[in-house]
Amino acid sequence: MERTFVLVKPDGVQRTLVGEIISRLERRGLRLVAAKFMQVGRDLAETHYAIHKGKPFYEGLIAYILSAPVMAMVWEGPNAVAAVRQTMGSTRPTEAAPGSVRHDFGLEVGRNLTHASDSIENGEMEVALWFKKEELVDWQRDVDRWAFEN
Ligand code: RTP
Ligand code: MG
Repeated sequence: MERTFVLVKPDGVQRTLVGEIISRLERRGLRLVAAKFMQVGRDLAETHYAIHKGKPFYEGLIAYILSAPVMAMVWEGPNAVAAVRQTMGSTRPTEAAPGSVRHDFGLEVGRNLTHASDSIENGEMEVALWFKKEELVDWQRDVDRWAFEN
């Protein structure tokens, strides 16, 4: 089953939107695999955002992710990567589709509430970076056959 890594960033936590965001992913039909409420350290932040190192927004991005706790999660389901990106909306909230998290709760790119893996490969890397193997729960949900075709 395809897996993706999701973060409710510090602004989402401070604005008490953790439950709302989890609820949207649950209602979409995705299955929760792991969750951890935590304060991110600098090393983890820099590894996670290594791809953006050197970009003008990099230092601000690191400061943003360190600024308050986050809710780190793994979700799975058919096309989980694309489904979660769609539920979150485009990076810039003013370009995000109405009904998406970033549209409905955000205004600025530097306060865009969530992170979600952008490919299956990056999803696997991010899951391994943020979670130990034994923290990933392999389970069957009673409604799975109504949410997943296979
Ligand atoms: P994410 O990785 O957080 O899911 O977001 P994304 O794929 O939609 O966007 P990405 O290009 O990976 O950028 C990562 C995060 O950096 C911040 N950002 N700021 N000021 C800017 O121009 C700018 N561009 C990106 C955002 O917080 C974005 O989510
Ligand atoms: Mg990204």
